[in-house]
Amino acid sequence: WLAGYLSAESGSETAAATPSASPLLVLYGTESGNAEALADLTAKQAKKRGFKPSVKNMADLSPADLAKAGKLLVIVSTWGDGDPPESATGFYNGLMQEKVDLSGVSFSVCALGDTSYEQFCKTGKDIDARLEALGAKRTTPRKDCDVDYDEDHAAWLDEALSSFGPAVAAPAAPAVAIPVAGEAFGKKNPFPSEMLEKVLLNGEGSQKETWHYELSLEGSGMSYLPGDALAVVPLNAPDMVEGVLKAAKLKGTEKVSLKGGDEKVLADALREDFEITVLSKAVLKKLQAVAKSERLEGLLADDAKDQLKDYLWGRWVADALAEFAPKGVSADELVGILRKLPPRLYSIASSPLAHPDEVHLTVASVRYEAHGLQRKGVASTFLADLVETGQQVRVYTHVNKNFRLPDSDDTPIIMVGPGTGIAPFRAFVEHRAETGAKGDSWLIFGDQRYTYDFLYQLEWQDHLSNGALNRLDVAFSRDQPEKVYVQDKMRENAAELFAWLEKGAHFYVCGDASRMAHDVNEALIGIIEAEGKRSREEAEAYVEGLRKSKRYQRDVY
Ligand code: 2AM
Repeated sequence: WLAGYLSAESGSETAAATPSASPLLVLYGTESGNAEALADLTAKQAKKRGFKPSVKNMADLSPADLAKAGKLLVIVSTWGDGDPPESATGFYNGLMQEKVDLSGVSFSVCALGDTSYEQFCKTGKDIDARLEALGAKRTTPRKDCDVDYDEDHAAWLDEALSSFGPAVAAPAAPAVAIPVAGEAFGKKNPFPSEMLEKVLLNGEGSQKETWHYELSLEGSGMSYLPGDALAVVPLNAPDMVEGVLKAAKLKGTEKVSLKGGDEKVLADALREDFEITVLSKAVLKKLQAVAKSERLEGLLADDAKDQLKDYLWGRWVADALAEFAPKGVSADELVGILRKLPPRLYSIASSPLAHPDEVHLTVASVRYEAHGLQRKGVASTFLADLVETGQQVRVYTHVNKNFRLPDSDDTPIIMVGPGTGIAPFRAFVEHRAETGAKGDSWLIFGDQRYTYDFLYQLEWQDHLSNGALNRLDVAFSRDQPEKVYVQDKMRENAAELFAWLEKGAHFYVCGDASRMAHDVNEALIGIIEAEGKRSREEAEAYVEGLRKSKRYQRDVY
């Protein structure tokens, strides 16, 4: 969306800062690229307001470098259980431990997070507190943003820049009228994309439901590179909307006002605008303000963290409404409790060179049973159940600069992608097939069973014969009594894997963040220890070196 976002702005570009303008450091820590894009936007705005901003990644800086920052704006996201972005870990740990004197620094923090996680915005909160403890002066309170961060970020930025006092004013810009030809497609204006093709990739008898989707980008003006993601703007399924209406004791025909001032019929608003399934502490707190339930009060108490976690698992908004507000709520109360329906990002599975004007996705449908009901993921089942071939889906491309093929086509690549983690590697290999890259490519894939779950098997065989893929190792976890995983394949081929690294190979991992990415990381360190005859610490430093030089890249979720 970055491209769309910036091009929507390009009509209003004004004067650059003068040499005497006040310097400002915009520091970001990013995992999926959101904080990075916001940092770029921040710098752009700061420049317009007369500052002289520089943008730095936490990955490339040490805490001591902050001492001379003067004015500092921090934008950082939080992942999983309150972790900093992978690439910011070193900086974060250093900041928490080192005693640097930051008394000359004025700062403000914009924290990105997701209210459906317990440790909402933890990294931003920690950094905010630590900067103050090290003597820096907070000029504007920290802003904690949920997944729909655009408005909160804009408000924070405006306050933060004002709080730094007047930058040396830039000379007034000459009024240059640049015609803006309609709003570009992008995050603020998703493109209605036609579903060209849907293919179920698993064979009959599989326990998985993995879809291959082909969408049209024709006429969108949007482009992407292998490694980028596609944001899908989903609609809630009619039965999910029904469920919420029933629990709230509402008809659906009630009128509600939305944030921008629009009025809508409640049922439409629930289908299009609000997250009506995923339950979080934030939603329960707002519900409690209306419901005033004794039991919910207890669940939200500080000493009931475990009970709350148990309660949240597998339950939806409708469950909480039925349980804690048995008499129902009003339409306005209901939309007041809900958050905006966030778009979902999927790693793109195609190369634009191989499929001009198209974008492909590999998506596993999320379906499970919990508390006596069939549950489903919003966007994955929207694509699977509700969008037929020939119908449209609203989408926009999302730049991910942290997951890129090597600059040189000669550089070898190792790709580890079990399950839908295969997606960006289909894009990589297609790309290399098109460019005729000479560098070797090694794919390590895993899934449950060979017979049903070997995603894109025929394509890999083609690429093995056309030379775009040089090596393929597969781990089918459930084809034998003991589990075999991608990391086992890495260990089995440890000597070769290490030799590839020594030859300069880039190492990529995509897929499950909760366990797989960690286990693969451990395997990597172990292989370097054993094959490189290094201590654990030296092997960790080797891996850190790979990361720093962007030879170890991850896209995990
Ligand atoms: P399993 O479900 O049989 O345990 C894609 O989902 C594949 O990743 C499946 O074969 C799955 O195996 C496997 N997988 C599950 N946990 C994993 C882990 N910690 N490391 C690597 N692969 C894992």
